[in-house]
Amino acid sequence: MLGVDPDADDAEISRAYRRRVKETHPDQGGSREAFMRLQQAYAAVRDGDVELAEDGSIAESADDADAAARTEPQGPPPGTSRMEYLDYDVLADYGWEIDDDDLFEAASDADLGPGEYGRLLVDHDETLLEAAERCGFAWPYACRGGACANCAVLVREGEVEMTQSHVLPQGMVDEGIRLSCLCRPVSDELQVVYNVKHLPGLDELRLPSQQF
Ligand code: FES
Repeated sequence: MLGVDPDADDAEISRAYRRRVKETHPDQGGSREAFMRLQQAYAAVRDGDVELAEDGSIAESADDADAAARTEPQGPPPGTSRMEYLDYDVLADYGWEIDDDDLFEAASDADLGPGEYGRLLVDHDETLLEAAERCGFAWPYACRGGACANCAVLVREGEVEMTQSHVLPQGMVDEGIRLSCLCRPVSDELQVVYNVKHLPGLDELRLPSQQF
């Protein structure tokens, strides 16, 4: 289940767990049952309750499987945040405004494709842009260094930290605008509208991507 050698040390087991979390989490296309079985297996190995077999597998009893099926996932896995995202381009098609209170509920109920709306996990040591790309999405960017504003997003809910950028005026930062190439998640849950580079004010700040 963890895919490590039976003599793996704690650091190897921890790395394997984080890798498998991304593969099995429901937000990443896995199933709740697989995710909970993984969490249970990791806890058992970490606490010394079971040992890894020669092939790195963990014997699983029927009781374990039942317990896993009964347990609800509690928030995103350790070291990650869950980001609910929405493409700004679809708002006009549906007559939505970016500050609608129920914007994300409406998006959740609409028949949007995974590139337009969805959820994904962001490692705490990766940027929002890197997480989107790791999941196969082509979010806008050009410089990847905080100079062009092509990667701008609106963080509607949650907290991120952004390394210094001189591109965004403080007023925009106060409104929740961030650069996805520079910001990493802080809170467990985020709501992010991406592809907002054509918002009034941002469009004027933006440097053409050909310059990079
Ligand atoms: S890609 Fe240029 S500021 Fe982020």
